[in-house]
Amino acid sequence: MPIVVTVHPLIEAAGRHGELPSWSCLSGPRREHAERVTALIGEWNLALAVPEAEQIRRRAAGMLHDALKDVPPDDLRRLVPGEWPDALLHAPAAALQLREEGIKDEELLLAIQYHSVGHPEFGALGEQLYMADYLDPGRDFGAEGREALRARMPDAHDEVLVSVARGRITARLEADAPVLEASIQFWNRIIDA
Ligand SMILES: [Fe+2]
Repeated sequence: MPIVVTVHPLIEAAGRHGELPSWSCLSGPRREHAERVTALIGEWNLALAVPEAEQIRRRAAGMLHDALKDVPPDDLRRLVPGEWPDALLHAPAAALQLREEGIKDEELLLAIQYHSVGHPEFGALGEQLYMADYLDPGRDFGAEGREALRARMPDAHDEVLVSVARGRITARLEADAPVLEASIQFWNRIIDA
């Protein structure tokens, strides 16, 4: 008997058609950000000749990562256990909501939960989402440096990943903002690589 792997319809809709679930809450510009992140991930995986089902799964992570970005932090805090700074709450909240919807893809859920901070257990999907979210050409900081990093993808994945992590973590330090334990462990893992 052949093994039939069924893809969750929500992943199929997001990854193949760029559709968001009904419960998503993100404004027009933020949806456009999600679409650009998805396009970057799509570009990289096409260049890498990743199998189509995996391309859809990775694009779905791009489309869904900010699905709850516009929910007020106080509402998100009621849903999310543990200590998360306000600005980061939407990420674990989206992962929780996707789990509620029956998605059991732990790698995808981890990628979404830690998409802006990094996690030592990230695989290719988590690393790509972490980079694409930062390298979105629509963001208004460090345009030149980020353009140069985009131009090196997907071939220079490991070096670009270190540059993106350095940029993300440095920004937290310069803002006197907390750096999560997971970010530090992620950093230590990737500079060891
Ligand atoms: Fe994002």
